[in-house]
Amino acid sequence: MVKSEKIPTVSGWHFRIKLSAVAVFRDPSFFSLNGGWQADGKGPSIWDTFCLEKGRVFGEQNGDEACNSYELWEKDLECIQQLGLTHYRLSFSWARLLPDGTTRHVNQKGVQYYNKVIDDLLACDVSPMVTLYHFDLPQALQDQGGWKSAGTATLFNDYAKFCFQTFGDRVKLWITVNEPYVCAKLGHEDGLHAPGIKEPGVAAYLVGHNMLRAHAMAWHSYNSFYRTKQKGAVSLAINSDWLEASVAGCAEDVAATERQLAFTLGWFAWPVFVTGDYPKIMRSAIDAQSEKFGRSGGSRLPSFSKDEPAVLGTADFFALNYYTSRKVEAGGGCGEVLSMKSDRDARDVLDPSWPICGVSWLAVVPHGLRKLLKYIKDTFNNPAVYITENGFSQVGQLQIEDVQRSEFYKDTILEVAKAIQEDGVNVRGYFAWSLLDNFEWADGFSVRFGLFHVDFADARRGRTIYRSGREYAKIISKFQCGQSK
Ligand code: BGC
Repeated sequence: MVKSEKIPTVSGWHFRIKLSAVAVFRDPSFFSLNGGWQADGKGPSIWDTFCLEKGRVFGEQNGDEACNSYELWEKDLECIQQLGLTHYRLSFSWARLLPDGTTRHVNQKGVQYYNKVIDDLLACDVSPMVTLYHFDLPQALQDQGGWKSAGTATLFNDYAKFCFQTFGDRVKLWITVNEPYVCAKLGHEDGLHAPGIKEPGVAAYLVGHNMLRAHAMAWHSYNSFYRTKQKGAVSLAINSDWLEASVAGCAEDVAATERQLAFTLGWFAWPVFVTGDYPKIMRSAIDAQSEKFGRSGGSRLPSFSKDEPAVLGTADFFALNYYTSRKVEAGGGCGEVLSMKSDRDARDVLDPSWPICGVSWLAVVPHGLRKLLKYIKDTFNNPAVYITENGFSQVGQLQIEDVQRSEFYKDTILEVAKAIQEDGVNVRGYFAWSLLDNFEWADGFSVRFGLFHVDFADARRGRTIYRSGREYAKIISKFQCGQSK
């Protein structure tokens, strides 16, 4: 970790980053089980249901209130202003706007809430970036098959059109689906996220496919009906680790790394940015495994239909969520069970020199982001990139003076600066994850990603800035309006 003396170096650079660093949150009160959602007209989501199942979430916690941004939005706005953010990424809750997931019934209170959030942001000169789908499918749609059902993509398109129509006069940056990889893999292969489905080697590919179809339909809707008037931009947020061969130059590890990349970043980026179809190595690995397991009846990886809007070219920018890096070696997947792991036949390894911060999967590797950005530039024809998530977690003993996280943000933003300055990557913005400590999915409140601490033991949900929040504010104050001061 570098020392804070590095800050002056950053300010000396001519940063081409157009947006200053910004922070993100998701609607932290989208899980409202205790009747609150009924009072507000919000429908339940798959996370509401998941939290009710024993053993799913750390300490049987739930997001009934979380940081209660639904009622405490003004407090969040104060935090945003205290940091001096120019942009703010937030996630709509589909079931708050359309309780049963369809446009048959619109919850006006939900519309009012998001209108207020957007208007307040704009009044403070903060531009919203809105994510339409962040893991929380309306339960009513799950009951009809969820993302495994082709029809969910069509209903998502209706929901997206409703949002473009209702909020698009003011929202200019849209993310359709956040991290389809995580929804597909953790939600439908591993069963660790809602809806908790465990159908290895089958469901995740179908879910990923329907999410890509949903995204493509929504992008085409925007393009055909709203773009000319609203002049916004639409993409999907793709998460990826930086991956490199465990032993550099070892042909097996290099090939395993390529496979692993194809099954993660490539799975969603290739169809949208390169060919309109999945990476060839992904399809051939899946089909070879199907043959080995004697599975007939077509590929487990679906194909895009020519009768539907094309998926190729449906991103106005590359939205990247980056948290960590891994070394990769061959193997780990040749067992007897059909699964994504055996399809990709590649194993992640942690480099012992990379410190783990908080949550066990998050090895701190700021330079991995620079490498990944360069890879994206080279592989996807130099797209405009927004880093839509990047962050550092705390677990256990609370540290308001979180020196490590402060260093993490400085180190990481320096790497982004180098990617721009030295590698010529077209980075347009950086969003830290997250503004507030929040309900961290299956980890409940045990993992804290915020720049502000939230006191979940107190009904008022007090927000206290961490040292990293103060440092972050200093860093981004140097990069306002596309220039370094
Ligand atoms: C998600 C966030 C989550 C973060 C840290 C991303 O996968 O988009 O919702 O909090 O990672 O786990």
